[in-house]
Amino acid sequence: MQGKKLKRFAAIKTFDNVYEYPENMQDKWSTHFNNDHPIILELACGKGEYSVNMALAFPDKNFIGVDVKGNRMFIGAKRALAENISNVAFLRIRIEQILQYFNPHSISEIWITFPDPFLREGKAKNRLTHHKFLALYQQLLKPNGIIHLKTDSVELYEFTQEMVAHHTCEVIQNIGDVYKNGTPAFPLNIQTFYEGMHLKDNRTIRYISFRLPQTKIEIPPKKKLNEEEASL
Ligand SMILES: C[S@@+](CC[C@H](N)C(=O)[O-])C[C@H]1O[C@@H](n2cnc3c(N)ncnc32)[C@H](O)[C@@H]1O
Repeated sequence: MQGKKLKRFAAIKTFDNVYEYPENMQDKWSTHFNNDHPIILELACGKGEYSVNMALAFPDKNFIGVDVKGNRMFIGAKRALAENISNVAFLRIRIEQILQYFNPHSISEIWITFPDPFLREGKAKNRLTHHKFLALYQQLLKPNGIIHLKTDSVELYEFTQEMVAHHTCEVIQNIGDVYKNGTPAFPLNIQTFYEGMHLKDNRTIRYISFRLPQTKIEIPPKKKLNEEEASL
């Protein structure tokens, strides 16, 4: 690992706003935040721009940035410490394991910001809006909880709309081009690191927010790939 990465990995171990694979954390978030305010997650948070900026805007809500890459969350965690933003924390885990870290139905909203689109059909199960993840989110979210996706990937945006239709989710907002009329209103004007790069490349930024159904999300059986799909 490069020196800078190693230093950041070492630094986050000393930060009291970063948890790495914590044990028995489910009941401890209110102790960490010292309140029972609603909790909002930012999945694939990277440097945590959404978590930190929304924490500043909503002092009566708690934000937790979740990612596996500690050297990226270092940036947001360090800023939060420097600016005394106490209603934001970071959790370094694999999102597949997220149910271990929260009580059922304890989360108000989930933001998913520029997740990897995993374009190959064989990798679709890694997309953070795949059936598999929606089923996890259903166990995490409070009834009527909201999921937000911001992405530059037309494929992931269309895939997510298919998931939303398949599970008869309630669409709250669906914006095919966030910057069509200039800078969008808060919080869509928060720009993440990857978003900045995509905007420089003139990519279209898309956003959809929705509520999951009340009925249990079932994961359809695996589709067998044909030869052409399997070879992609
Ligand atoms: C393209 S980056 C986006 C980061 C940030 N949201 C941004 O917009 O700048 C995707 C992030 O998702 C994280 N990620 C992808 N799959 C993950 C998983 N299953 N568990 C934890 N983190 C994951 C990666 O580590 C990476 O930091």
